Amino acid sequence: MLPLLTLALTAAAAAAAQSLPKMTATDCSALSRPTVPDATVVSMQAMMMTDMLVPMAGGTTMPLSFCDVNVTLTHGTAGDNVRIEVWMPLAGSWNGRFQGTGGSGYSAGLFDLAMGPAVMDGYAAASTDAGVGTSGNFTLAADGGPASPELTQQLLTNFANLSIHEMAVVGKALVQQFYGMPANRSYFTGCSTGGRQGLMEAQRFPGDFDGIVAASPAINWDRLMPAELWPFSVMQAAGEMVPACVLNTLTAGMVSACDELDGVRDGMLANPGACTFDPATLVGTSAAGCAAASSNGTSAGANTTITASQAAIFTKILAGPTSPAGDQLWYGLLPGTSPTTLAANGQPFVLGATWLSNFVLALNPNSSESAESVNTALASQQAYTNIFEQSQTLFDGVIGTDDPDLTAFQRSGGKLIAWHGLADQLVFANGTFDYVQRVMDLMGATNATSAVDGFLRAFAAPGVQHCGGGSGAVPTDPLAALVAWVENGTAPDTLAAMSAMTTTMATNMTGMSANDTTATPANATMITRNLCRYPQMLMYSGSGNASLADSWMCMPGPNQKVISETTLSQSSTRVLAETSGAGALSRGAGIAVAGLVALYLLM
Ligand SMILES: *[C@@H]1O[C@H](CO)[C@@H](O)[C@H](O)[C@H]1NC(C)=O
Ligand SMILES: *[C@@H]1O[C@H](CO)[C@@H](O)[C@H](O)[C@H]1NC(C)=O
Ligand SMILES: *[C@@H]1O[C@H](CO)[C@@H](O)[C@H](O)[C@H]1NC(C)=O
Ligand SMILES: *[C@@H]1O[C@H](CO)[C@@H](O)[C@H](O)[C@H]1NC(C)=O
Ligand SMILES: *[C@@H]1O[C@H](CO)[C@@H](O)[C@H](O)[C@H]1NC(C)=O
Ligand SMILES: *[C@@H]1O[C@H](CO)[C@@H](O)[C@H](O)[C@H]1NC(C)=O
Ligand SMILES: *[C@@H]1O[C@H](CO)[C@@H](O)[C@H](O)[C@H]1NC(C)=O
Ligand SMILES: *[C@@H]1O[C@H](CO)[C@@H](O)[C@H](O)[C@H]1NC(C)=O
Ligand SMILES: *[C@@H]1O[C@H](CO)[C@@H](O)[C@H](O)[C@H]1NC(C)=O
Ligand SMILES: *[C@@H]1O[C@H](CO)[C@@H](O)[C@H](O)[C@H]1NC(C)=O
Ligand SMILES: *[C@@H]1O[C@H](CO)[C@@H](O)[C@H](O)[C@H]1NC(C)=O
Ligand SMILES: *[C@@H]1O[C@H](CO)[C@@H](O)[C@H](O)[C@H]1NC(C)=O
Repeated sequence: MLPLLTLALTAAAAAAAQSLPKMTATDCSALSRPTVPDATVVSMQAMMMTDMLVPMAGGTTMPLSFCDVNVTLTHGTAGDNVRIEVWMPLAGSWNGRFQGTGGSGYSAGLFDLAMGPAVMDGYAAASTDAGVGTSGNFTLAADGGPASPELTQQLLTNFANLSIHEMAVVGKALVQQFYGMPANRSYFTGCSTGGRQGLMEAQRFPGDFDGIVAASPAINWDRLMPAELWPFSVMQAAGEMVPACVLNTLTAGMVSACDELDGVRDGMLANPGACTFDPATLVGTSAAGCAAASSNGTSAGANTTITASQAAIFTKILAGPTSPAGDQLWYGLLPGTSPTTLAANGQPFVLGATWLSNFVLALNPNSSESAESVNTALASQQAYTNIFEQSQTLFDGVIGTDDPDLTAFQRSGGKLIAWHGLADQLVFANGTFDYVQRVMDLMGATNATSAVDGFLRAFAAPGVQHCGGGSGAVPTDPLAALVAWVENGTAPDTLAAMSAMTTTMATNMTGMSANDTTATPANATMITRNLCRYPQMLMYSGSGNASLADSWMCMPGPNQKVISETTLSQSSTRVLAETSGAGALSRGAGIAVAGLVALYLLM
């Protein structure tokens, strides 16, 4: 998008809209199908909704009136079936902006849950399912066998790369028709998968959005997914499933030991990287809550005494995945974050397990047995390392979403606010700092007054879990801060935050365990913070009420030590050479899979 041209068009359209109100606008039910390059729109339904009860955060509902449009599209002969839904408030309630919204886990969009709050704020909003459903099974046909290679390739492209862009095309076209003028500005908001989608847009479709909020982004997907299985792999290899009560007690011990490193004892670590507490110190003490929280067959009775092997397993989990040779493969959870969710119930974490079984194991042209089980693939450190590297080799170029070159986004005038909870128990906060550091390294600066600071700012939220929750202060309205940056040039030095009032929505969005006892206690004190941006971190100023933002300041923090990729993504040439080799093609059911790999690696 050329900003000057856009501004000119926008101003002209705005002037037209003002002098000829409603003249060019269209009734909701009379809207016509938008065209989408390289896709076929197969159907569209549009209907005015009046006072429809729409879900809001915290389980409440709100009556909203808007034009509701469903557009269904498909690509060539792939047979995919993508639904895009757009909600447009009445012209008098519209704030002139378009908001694309993101998904969670394997779902590309949250629909009502995301569009409701946007429409309530006056935005025209959109959501898409990318044609992939919600369960991450999109490499499978309805009978459980492999889907056609063409379909799987298309669904992967949709989910990884294409659907948010197509949603933006459809949403903007419908806005133009319905209001008789284009949106003045376009924004994207998302958390987790939605955060990844936001950064994907900045990397690959830099003209789609003027501003992007990317929260707890699930970027580095090819490494993040296996890294979520590291806790299970460690425990399986050690032959011991450490019960949740022990993991939570060790986490609490760590918080207690390191709490004052940020200047005050408040139950949260604002500088978790500085915590060097050795959990072995707690060997022989009793783990609290084992009777109450007894997960999967621990039948721990009242209290369990923490053993040396449990402390060693905990330490290895937090350190993050390493190869047998000691190479750091990816980050671990930050000190103060309980591994309970990732290690829940003695089972491999569901998002990562789905990734391994449906993608890495099913689609790997090298694997002799596509029936290899997830548990077998995680049985030893060597097996884990192999599967980690396969995921990276096959999928980094497809869904890694870690390209640090944001030059085009910067040139188009785009702004991006990222934030990440330092107690994120699902998506490693260091993966976000790793990415931001790589953007800074590439785009020519290493400090907060850099050129990168002019379009990308990443804020750290101490004590906050994935997409919210935890006892820390969660950004109150990062979109409002972004709008002020895009439209008024007011760049956010800090991001206003307040402790979460509800963890329900975050729980629903991420499937995180409701049994994580480190979640916000009901009687927690309300706290506020002005979150600092990477690489700064919050530090208590030494005086004043530690619950309040004014008592904290931003201090220089360490620059992230970036983890370089241990294997390089395969170029399409190399993969084609491999998949046409004897091994892959000689395996009955493997034929479809081999063809599939050849197809999607061409993307
Ligand atoms: C759009 O699809 C959703 C989900 O199927 C449905 O709830 C909604 O009523 C549809 N809207 C229109 C206008 O058909
Ligand atoms: C969370 O999910 C439950 C069960 O599906 C549902 O009843 C509840 O309304 C959801 N809450 C929110 C805030 O989405
Ligand atoms: C769009 O922007 C123009 C120019 O800033 C402004 O005059 C107009 O009111 C805006 N339109 C809406 C619907 O907010
Ligand atoms: C995949 O999930 C969709 C819903 O998301 C479901 O309709 C379909 O039956 C599932 N397929 C398999 C093989 O589980
Ligand atoms: C992870 O991030 C924290 C917080 O910014 C930092 O202190 C720490 O050094 C990082 N850890 C690694 C292994 O890079
Ligand atoms: C269990 O441990 C907690 C904390 O160490 C202690 O307060 C409690 O008395 C213990 N309960 C029993 C039954 O030993
Ligand atoms: C407990 O976990 C083990 C795997 O460690 C599993 O085989 C077993 O079925 C689980 N039991 C229950 C009751 O979930
Ligand atoms: C497949 O095997 C070849 C040759 O050993 C290797 O270079 C390549 O990285 C492997 N691919 C994957 C995805 O493991
Ligand atoms: C932009 O600045 C003006 C004047 O200070 C203010 O009225 C307006 O609310 C600001 N808009 C945003 C989106 O911050
Ligand atoms: C929480 O724990 C209870 C009892 O141990 C169990 O039945 C339930 O499935 C768990 N819920 C989750 C979301 O793990
Ligand atoms: C500190 O602030 C919190 C939140 O406003 C309040 O609940 C608490 O009473 C204050 N503590 C003191 C000592 O003023
Ligand atoms: C992403 O989509 C764009 C547009 O279709 C395409 O040019 C690009 O090659 C795709 N990238 C990947 C990795 O799929």
